[in-house]
Amino acid sequence: MTDRLYIFDTTLRDGEQSPGASMTRDEKLRIARQLERLRVDVIEAGFAASSNGDFAAVKAIAGAIRESTICSLARANDRDIARAAEALQGAARARIHTFIATSALHMEKKLRMTPDQVYEQARQSVRFARNLCADVEFSPEDGYRSDPDFLCRVLETVIAEGATTINIPDTVGYAVPELYGAFIRDLRERIPNSDKAVWSVHCHNDLGMAVANSLAGVMIGGARQIECTVNGLGERAGNCSLEEVVMALRTRRDYFGLEVGVDTTQIVPASRMVSQTTGFVVQPNKAVVGANAFAHASGIHQDGVLKARDTYEIMRAEDVGWAANKIVLGKLSGRNAFKQRLQDLGIEMESEAEINAAFARFKDLADRKSEIFDEDIIALVGDESVTGEIEHYRLLSLSQRSETGERPHARVAFAAGSAELHAESDGNGPVDASLKAIESEVHSGAELMLYSVNAITSGSTESQGEVTVRLQHGGRVVNGVGADPDIVVASAKAYLSALNKLHSTAERVAAQG
Ligand code: KIV
Ligand code: ZN
Repeated sequence: MTDRLYIFDTTLRDGEQSPGASMTRDEKLRIARQLERLRVDVIEAGFAASSNGDFAAVKAIAGAIRESTICSLARANDRDIARAAEALQGAARARIHTFIATSALHMEKKLRMTPDQVYEQARQSVRFARNLCADVEFSPEDGYRSDPDFLCRVLETVIAEGATTINIPDTVGYAVPELYGAFIRDLRERIPNSDKAVWSVHCHNDLGMAVANSLAGVMIGGARQIECTVNGLGERAGNCSLEEVVMALRTRRDYFGLEVGVDTTQIVPASRMVSQTTGFVVQPNKAVVGANAFAHASGIHQDGVLKARDTYEIMRAEDVGWAANKIVLGKLSGRNAFKQRLQDLGIEMESEAEINAAFARFKDLADRKSEIFDEDIIALVGDESVTGEIEHYRLLSLSQRSETGERPHARVAFAAGSAELHAESDGNGPVDASLKAIESEVHSGAELMLYSVNAITSGSTESQGEVTVRLQHGGRVVNGVGADPDIVVASAKAYLSALNKLHSTAERVAAQG
């Protein structure tokens, strides 16, 4: 048994399945680059057969990333597997991850298949995948709630067909640590060829135990791959959180005794990028990446930390990427300083034209905000004027009037494709008036499910406001994010960004379908 533990990141696949977390191809590519800097072993880039957009994202990531293995999910059928293999063609190292449900409940109610049919489909799919790719992972969906005898039969066969990784999903987050660990240990002990595959854990967080279950799967069960997502992003209560599981393994190496290849100083930049891209805000008291994770408020703690850091700190903030001394840029900073900061933050720009566009946005922001922090730079590189990603709706200008005792009024000009639209409206407040003005022209009919504002950098009213808007329409849920020192402008940008996502017609097939 090796002492190396593999980190399989599924932020771009299982994380993205969270309603509203869908990302564009370019957003996914940017996050994949950050995951490569984080040095995760495997990046599950998407589910190639689910939509043309997912196919394009997996293909782009496979072509761009050299260090991590790139994986695509595929249901256990030839069409999905062939599509995954096609999307992965340019990868330096590729993996096909195929799955089929094995619990009695899922087989009978969802798949309407007999166990023998599921067994046969799993066998044939792994055989087919192995003909296309040397690295094949197999997941029995709802594995933890499956009959162990049936699971042993299926898993022994798929290993014999060449599956190189066997993943045991706790799809619905039902497991408890000791039982999950023992479940995997028993499977490994009972399956004669179990040593021919790497065993993997995949835990959902419905009972808040995804990290504990994953670690038990490793320690009791002998698994050597953990599937996880940045910020624990994922459907319902999310997946096992990458930052928590990695820092547990690192901080308690004395107990776990396992090596992980992750560069932990890239954790906080990855967390920020995922949260800024998806609009899923990180709670302040979230372990490792929450704003308060290293803040000592009580006098006794502060005094202790000043005297000897380890009195109250088990990890160092800088080891997980909280910059000890943030270099602040401003109006007078030149292009070289800006370019250097981009490099330090690990942001790669593909061309000089992109750097110039980002620098122009930076100068524009610096005119309105005296100090530019790393978070501001991360927010501005996602801007369409920098990425060159042409979106259907784009804010051109906004003016609003609000005065005590008067009903606020907003005028908004925005592009819709090649047309320029002008709209105005009253509202309960300037944000309400601006969004109503946009809606009066777009007529999306979408329901606003969430509106939230956060300061990108804390501690000052000078900070940029980052607004998340969640819209629902026709069964789809999308998040839009916008940043600006003026929160009314940030709100209009966020609303238009959500409308852009609704506007993209790509239909997706649910992975659990
Ligand atoms: O939770 C789950 O069962 C999954 C599988 C598709 C691996 O995400
Ligand atoms: Zn999952």
